[in-house]
Amino acid sequence: MARTPLLAGNWKMNLNHVEATGLVQQLAWTLKDFRYDKTKSEAAVIVPFTDLRSVQSIIEGDDLPLTWGAQDVSVHESGAYTGEISAGMLAKLNCSYVVVGHSERREYHGETDALIGEKAKVVFAAGMTPIICCGEVLEIRKAGTHVAHVLSQVAECLAPLTAEQVGAAVIAYEPVWAIGTGEVATPEDAQEVCGAIRGYVAQAFGAQAAESVRIQYGGSVKSTNVVEIMAQPDVDGALVGGASLVADEFAKIVMYYVGA
Ligand code: PGA
Repeated sequence: MARTPLLAGNWKMNLNHVEATGLVQQLAWTLKDFRYDKTKSEAAVIVPFTDLRSVQSIIEGDDLPLTWGAQDVSVHESGAYTGEISAGMLAKLNCSYVVVGHSERREYHGETDALIGEKAKVVFAAGMTPIICCGEVLEIRKAGTHVAHVLSQVAECLAPLTAEQVGAAVIAYEPVWAIGTGEVATPEDAQEVCGAIRGYVAQAFGAQAAESVRIQYGGSVKSTNVVEIMAQPDVDGALVGGASLVADEFAKIVMYYVGA
């Protein structure tokens, strides 16, 4: 089964809804200018909750070649959870994706692998696709135990899911030391861990799930390094932070296949 590469821009806590509309428009114009072919890659914007309605309206209204999603979700369906946003609310805004377990959520909000797995489950139950994040911190990389560490995160995050769901999921390998630091993993580093993740999926959920699950690399991805990262056999896309806030730069990343 062919895996369509997913290049997703994680805007983090940047851009209000007016600015979001501007960036989406600029991105769409740039992609059109560059003759983007959406059969070759999928471009998604992962935006703050308050931007979702505006982003949905402009993409649907103008039939732009973009999908969109949210950066987090509550595990609860509804009720007395002040400040939280449910999967049902996000599905109602036609989100395709929800990022779960980003390292910034793990670090600043104490999110555990078990909670992240529950979030992935509610995202699927609402008809959307989770982008499940994993990745090691620098000390673990230096100790050389990064593969085992990431596989244990992945095992716990995927545990609540069926094999069919795992096959439909997106897993983002983001070494924490490469996020927002300008320090990018080498293509070989990215392949080592993404390949090990696919191997784990094959062993735990079967060959079909391993064939179809999309595995992204994230951490200081730019137009200048995306081509060699995407050339790795087990890398099916990128989760892009800083570089996704500049239309021209993100358009080049989405269209990495031109330089391939
Ligand atoms: P970065 O962020 O591209 O700015 O390193 C990646 C991420 O956190 O998803």
